[in-house]
Amino acid sequence: MADEFVVPEEERAGQAVRPDGYFDLIRRLSHQSVVKHFDAYADIDWDSPEFRIDHDDSRWELETDDVLGATEWYRSQPAGIRSRIGLRMLANFMKIGVVFEYVLKRGLLDFASRLPSGSPEFRYCYHETIEEAQHSLMFQEFINRTGFRLPGLSGIERRYADFVVKYARKFPELFFVFVLAGEDPIDYVQRESLRKKREDIHPLFRRIMQIHVTEEARHMSFARHALRNRVPELSRTRKARLGLCVPLILGFMGKMMMEASPRIAREYNIPREVVDAAYSKNLIHRRRIHDASTKLFGLCEELGLVNPWSVRLWRMMRILPQTGALTVATTH
Ligand SMILES: [Fe+2]
Ligand SMILES: [Fe+2]
Repeated sequence: MADEFVVPEEERAGQAVRPDGYFDLIRRLSHQSVVKHFDAYADIDWDSPEFRIDHDDSRWELETDDVLGATEWYRSQPAGIRSRIGLRMLANFMKIGVVFEYVLKRGLLDFASRLPSGSPEFRYCYHETIEEAQHSLMFQEFINRTGFRLPGLSGIERRYADFVVKYARKFPELFFVFVLAGEDPIDYVQRESLRKKREDIHPLFRRIMQIHVTEEARHMSFARHALRNRVPELSRTRKARLGLCVPLILGFMGKMMMEASPRIAREYNIPREVVDAAYSKNLIHRRRIHDASTKLFGLCEELGLVNPWSVRLWRMMRILPQTGALTVATTH
């Protein structure tokens, strides 16, 4: 039987049995990975004429509902520059995806290697790793076809990656927070894009997003439930550390996933004040960041990771959802 379950070691050893619901869910996620998964090359017809990437295609242009796209500076650029900036930003987000998934895969494999024999989490971690590898193939193929030459990992990024992987071993709960902090904002952005009119989105980009959003739903479910399962068992000190780290990680990752990089600003001579007007001084952008942070904030509340100290950090990173501010104001 494909889903045969071997009793986890702690059950056999007579230790506290983890809630059955958790393992059942992990088994269902694994099953879903078997019945609904995608292959970067078999499921995307890369050479189809409608998937061709043309730098001058107006569908790459940022629209007025995009914070940079709404600036007067962007709208005053020639059409070819507008479409190139839009495409360059997508290529950059995909590159960030490749780097993020590289860290994620290493962390998941490390986490899985320490699980007791028979743990359903082991199988799911491998399914997720395989799916992330397909995503990275898909993202990198898209980047290759844009013709933009994007650099690989810098020395600092490589050190940061090693640091996160180390935490998958030393402090798995912190690693799962890192997972959600990367996956939540990108999922929010992709779901928003998929709501646009069909003819406004390039079909290749639409296909990539559909595949990604479908599989990421499982990954986020795993990370959330892994946290629900593990955090209550943490010591008070570890819980406090985790509560303080969440807003720092999410603030950093959200910015990377939702804003034009300084490199793109340099390449296209986007003036500093335009970047500020689009992002740091833009209320619409702040609201989008808050919306993208809401789910993780809700989970932190549920897990008892929100307190007046951590709320200060949520506020300092400018990611405190408005509902969060209200809750804290009325309860503390
Ligand atoms: Fe992914
Ligand atoms: Fe994922």
